[in-house]
Amino acid sequence: MKVLGLSGSPRRGGNTELLLDRALEGAKERGAGVEKIVLSELNIHPCRHCGGCARTGWCVIEDDMQRLYDRFRTLDALVLAAPVFFMGPPAQTKSMMDRCQCLWVAKYVLKRPLVEDGTKRKSLLLSVGGSARPHLFRPLKTIVQAVFATLDLAYGNDLCFAGVDKKGAIRKHPTALRKALEAGAKLVERA
Ligand SMILES: Cc1cc2nc3c(=O)[nH]c(=O)nc-3n(C[C@H](O)[C@H](O)[C@H](O)COP(=O)(O)O)c2cc1C
Repeated sequence: MKVLGLSGSPRRGGNTELLLDRALEGAKERGAGVEKIVLSELNIHPCRHCGGCARTGWCVIEDDMQRLYDRFRTLDALVLAAPVFFMGPPAQTKSMMDRCQCLWVAKYVLKRPLVEDGTKRKSLLLSVGGSARPHLFRPLKTIVQAVFATLDLAYGNDLCFAGVDKKGAIRKHPTALRKALEAGAKLVERA
């Protein structure tokens, strides 16, 4: 089983990356092959809405996103870790998401889903926000659900922690890292 982890925060070693590392550790302990990709270290341009994908379902922009498209086709489970920035995902994560537009075209317009047999792969969303605002994670979850549907991922589980702001503050949370480890392990269980 292949589990892809995407670290979507620009802050290296930050709270969501710590959660991601634990989730991937949990999956690895159960025998999964895991790969972690740090979006802020890739060169991913924003979608230009150029229409280049309209007839083919392929994005015409030649950058690191091309590597991710390949991974998206072959993964068995995706873990996305991204904090809340102004109620949504950070720009690095949002660029990656918007570049999934070609996959949306492929799936919904050209009727060519990523996974031919319609299998829904597994997913896990990990997030934190600095504040404790009500409904803090609602906009992010809605965005992620739309992207996951495009990627033929079932929106399975999410772990979102409010009031986690300073770098590394998640380490002081009583259950977060353990829950992330368990959620990663659970991805490997058979449905
Ligand atoms: C540009 C920016 C926007 C942010 N917007 C929000 C927000 O809307 N709500 C919130 O609760 N926290 C917000 N935060 C705080 C982050 O969610 C918080 O610091 C989080 O712990 C960062 O996660 P990381 O360590 O994984 O990068 C924002 C931080 C930054 C830098």
